[in-house]
Amino acid sequence: MSLQDIDIISNSKRSHAKVWSVANQKGGVGKTTTTVNLATALAACKKRVLIIDLDPQGNASTGLGVEADARQKSIYQVMIEGIDITSAIRPTDVPRMSVISSGVELSGAELELVNMAEREFKLVNAIGPLLDKFDYILIDCPPALGLLTLNALVASDAVLVPLQTEFYALEGLSHLLRTIDRVKRGLNRRLDIQGIVLTMYDRRNNLCEMVAADVRAFLGDKVFKTVIPRNVRVSEAPSHGKPVLLYDFACAGSQAYIKLAGEILRNEQASTANAAVA
Ligand SMILES: Nc1ncnc2c1ncn2[C@@H]1O[C@H](COP(=O)(O)OP(=O)(O)O)[C@@H](O)[C@H]1O
Ligand SMILES: [Mg+2]
Repeated sequence: MSLQDIDIISNSKRSHAKVWSVANQKGGVGKTTTTVNLATALAACKKRVLIIDLDPQGNASTGLGVEADARQKSIYQVMIEGIDITSAIRPTDVPRMSVISSGVELSGAELELVNMAEREFKLVNAIGPLLDKFDYILIDCPPALGLLTLNALVASDAVLVPLQTEFYALEGLSHLLRTIDRVKRGLNRRLDIQGIVLTMYDRRNNLCEMVAADVRAFLGDKVFKTVIPRNVRVSEAPSHGKPVLLYDFACAGSQAYIKLAGEILRNEQASTANAAVA
């Protein structure tokens, strides 16, 4: 079966893009991996998907094989210099999936934004023209709760939080949840929590099971049923400039991201159906 053939749930209705921030101020918890691979899985389900790489480290851009000279029009030029956002969109090797890359200049953006007017609204003001071009826009956030992440949260309908299944998983989470709540009350009323995804889960490690149970007890049904296993193929894929679904479709990591996309799409269909009944 090829990527083009999979169609877990094909909802061909065209509508307004859903914008999701993939955020957690901790580094190394699986934000970039989840952005790239969930986006690929959604594209495999016939969705039109855009990844916005909002991390100055540019791991999502590198992991998608975007060459340095193709990053001249990046999210920095869009947010800080005000260039047309559509001119910064690059295709990827995945059908229906595009990317707006990050460049090194973005590391200066936190400081440059401080004194700019409407500093939290640069991204939301820019993405308007893209909303009818995509079904999903996933924003890969940097590992901090600074102005870049705030811009992402203000531009988003929901936040997806990757949580590494380790002893300190919940540490820092309350800070993130408070920030989301503050943004919701002050800057973006529609912001919701899409869900928490447990990453790098190792079934052979008893601690993982305990941590997962703790997280579920604390956050309830906000935690996705699908967990992403620790899988070496997932960590190898970026060095080949590919999402793991293109690198090794059959591996446990790829299959988990497909399952996650299926769970998310089913949840969305269920909530749309509930809203229609109400
Ligand atoms: N499920 C997984 N299995 C194995 N390695 C993973 C998995 N998810 C992420 N990694 C690796 O862990 C590191 C951190 O992941 P990354 O997605 O870059 O985190 P973040 O964007 O939150 O900093 C990377 O080297 C990545 O390849
Ligand atoms: Mg990252």
